[in-house]
Amino acid sequence: MDRPIRWGILSTGSIAGTFVNGLRALPEAQVTAVGSRTREAAEAFGDKFAIPRRHAGYEALAADPEVDVIYVASLHPFHKENALLCLRHGKAVLCEKPFTLNAREAEEVVAEARRRRLFLMEAMWTRFLPMTVRVREWLREGVIGEPRFFQANFGFDVGERPEGRHLKRDSGGGALLDVGIYTISYAHMVFGGAPETLSSAAHLGPTGVDVQAGALLRFPGGGIAQLSFAVRTGLGQAGTIYGTRGRIRIEPTFWKGSRVTLAVAGKPEETFDLTPPGNGYTCEAAEVMRCLREGRLESDVMPLDETLSIMRTLDAVRKPWGLTYPTEQ
Ligand SMILES: NC(=O)c1ccc[n+]([C@@H]2O[C@H](COP(=O)([O-])OP(=O)(O)OC[C@H]3O[C@@H](n4cnc5c(N)ncnc54)[C@H](OP(=O)(O)O)[C@@H]3O)[C@@H](O)[C@H]2O)c1
Repeated sequence: MDRPIRWGILSTGSIAGTFVNGLRALPEAQVTAVGSRTREAAEAFGDKFAIPRRHAGYEALAADPEVDVIYVASLHPFHKENALLCLRHGKAVLCEKPFTLNAREAEEVVAEARRRRLFLMEAMWTRFLPMTVRVREWLREGVIGEPRFFQANFGFDVGERPEGRHLKRDSGGGALLDVGIYTISYAHMVFGGAPETLSSAAHLGPTGVDVQAGALLRFPGGGIAQLSFAVRTGLGQAGTIYGTRGRIRIEPTFWKGSRVTLAVAGKPEETFDLTPPGNGYTCEAAEVMRCLREGRLESDVMPLDETLSIMRTLDAVRKPWGLTYPTEQ
């Protein structure tokens, strides 16, 4: 594909706009179309971001012949049906995190993409940020020795908004699926696979979703991740990897930003500022476009088997809490 890659945007919510701004930094990306449940929202979003083709309904977007790849940015309970819809219309898909509500749904979507030989990727944008790329290089080169611990918090206070998506069960609310997933995905990346044992605890708030929770994961070889996440408590959002010969501290935010500090035994500590291009979301979009141009069906930075493995860990972390979502019953 040597012409510009034509993006369609499925839904007109908050992250959809941020992502479109991220695409603006890529000259070879064209935002061609947007689809919304309502014509009004599609038109308003189209006006705001100068998108020429506006569709009332997601199906019309999925069927648009002027679109190569669709960014699914709806709420998590709808990711499965929305991603399947796009794949069934022959479109490549980048799907927001959490990829789906649970592993069973994720397996369905991945199987459909594989059957149709279409590109599919989870939009875990942190993976593609230059600071995360650097962390992976250090881990691969053994710069801090063997990673032994990963500690991370991701907590903020969304406020008393029971109808907002963060707290509402129908919208896939709760800390695990909104922000805990970043800590769990990062832990999979640090230790190179899935945990062999785990335990977790959560406090379910008045709307029945986890407003705060913690998980302790043990990986093959003995690596341990201690993770805390919350949507009603400002926990901070830093992460630290402790290895046998040093540590990597990613602060103030391990899931976004640019700053990472390396401390290796016997050497002065060094802080690096690795500013991403555009608004950071640009990096994951660039990866999708690289894959499409090279005819790849998945990214080797965020492979589908790893997405499935992360979804299984999320299910296992949530299981003891008795928290299920309406579409799971
Ligand atoms: N990567 C990141 O940094 C990041 C950041 C924030 C959120 N996210 C993820 O992105 C997804 C969307 O989050 P958001 O913050 O953008 O949410 P949001 O602002 O509430 O927007 C969600 C959109 O989903 C669509 N939707 C489809 N069915 C819906 C329903 N039954 N009720 C309400 N909305 C429905 C709506 O679009 P239409 O009305 O146009 O159809 C709505 O605008 C979530 O899965 C979230 O985890 C990722």
